Amino acid sequence: MLFKSNSNIDEEQIKLVENAQKRVKQRKRLFYHFSIMLFGIITLLILNILFGIKKEISFYNYPWSYWASIFWVLILLAHTYNVYITNRFMGKDWEKEQIKKLVLKQELKISKIKTELEKEARVKAESELFNQKNSKNLITLIAAASENNVIGKDNKLIWYLSDDLKHFKEFTKGHAVIMGRKTFESMPKALPNRTNIVITRKVDYLANDAIVVNSLSQALEKAAEDKQPFIIGGGEIYSLAIKIADRIELTRVHTELEGDAYFPDIDHNIWEEVSREKRLKDEKHDYDFTFIRYNKK
Ligand SMILES: NC(=O)c1ccc[n+]([C@@H]2O[C@H](COP(=O)([O-])OP(=O)(O)OC[C@H]3O[C@@H](n4cnc5c(N)ncnc54)[C@H](OP(=O)(O)O)[C@@H]3O)[C@@H](O)[C@H]2O)c1
Repeated sequence: MLFKSNSNIDEEQIKLVENAQKRVKQRKRLFYHFSIMLFGIITLLILNILFGIKKEISFYNYPWSYWASIFWVLILLAHTYNVYITNRFMGKDWEKEQIKKLVLKQELKISKIKTELEKEARVKAESELFNQKNSKNLITLIAAASENNVIGKDNKLIWYLSDDLKHFKEFTKGHAVIMGRKTFESMPKALPNRTNIVITRKVDYLANDAIVVNSLSQALEKAAEDKQPFIIGGGEIYSLAIKIADRIELTRVHTELEGDAYFPDIDHNIWEEVSREKRLKDEKHDYDFTFIRYNKK
């Protein structure tokens, strides 16, 4: 596919170069024509003077060499008209225009290659993730999200829900908890009694009491021994992991809030709700909320 699109661009470039070569040849031919004509007319005139053909072969009292010269000049004019007027004039501006076109083609080619490479990298990362999916463990997303899918703002949680914290602790205790670098930094320290795994693109990132990895796929490898590794956020990591997760433990908070981190949409063609348990707002809970479990169909 990549090769095909590049070869299309190359073909266009070849056409441009061929066109430029053709134009150079046209101009050269015109110059040769002019030189030959000059030589021919001078020769005719000399012959005319030397052999006095004027008297013997004449047309309306003009020698044939005269008419032949005029005729030749007319042909040259027609040739010049054809090169410079009928075909586009090939001056400096034309050359600049051609160079500009070539540069544009090159830029297009580079940007297409870049897009293809990025796409290939994404496909590779996704296929690595799907290989992880074949593992036997139950990859679980655990999150609390408002009705409009907001999960946080300014790298902080935006509600206090005591039972949700307990719920989170109970589920994740003793398991691997996989999180993005921003979520890790939003916490005072690594979560105790859990294997903390932090995902970052930074190669030299250090995190106290946590394993640092550079992709979700690596994080899942580190958690391979855990029967139920938990993906605990935030928005970027949930979006990646929802494609390969087996279960979602969602706390739906019954309010709409503003924020800057979101839980991805749950596609009900893919996810089946298997349980729900509603809790009401009180002094330990800012809003009504519902614990919902989804299993992948
Ligand atoms: N309500 C909830 O249940 C809940 C749970 C967790 C978090 N949160 C909230 O969510 C917010 C944070 O979420 P967020 O989306 O901003 O950040 P995040 O997902 O926690 O972390 C994003 C970071 O993860 C790394 N990352 C992302 N994709 C990667 C990839 N493909 N490969 C390698 N590294 C990758 C990058 O780290 P580098 O920049 O270091 O490369 C990126 O900046 C906070 O407000 C937090 O309070 C809410």
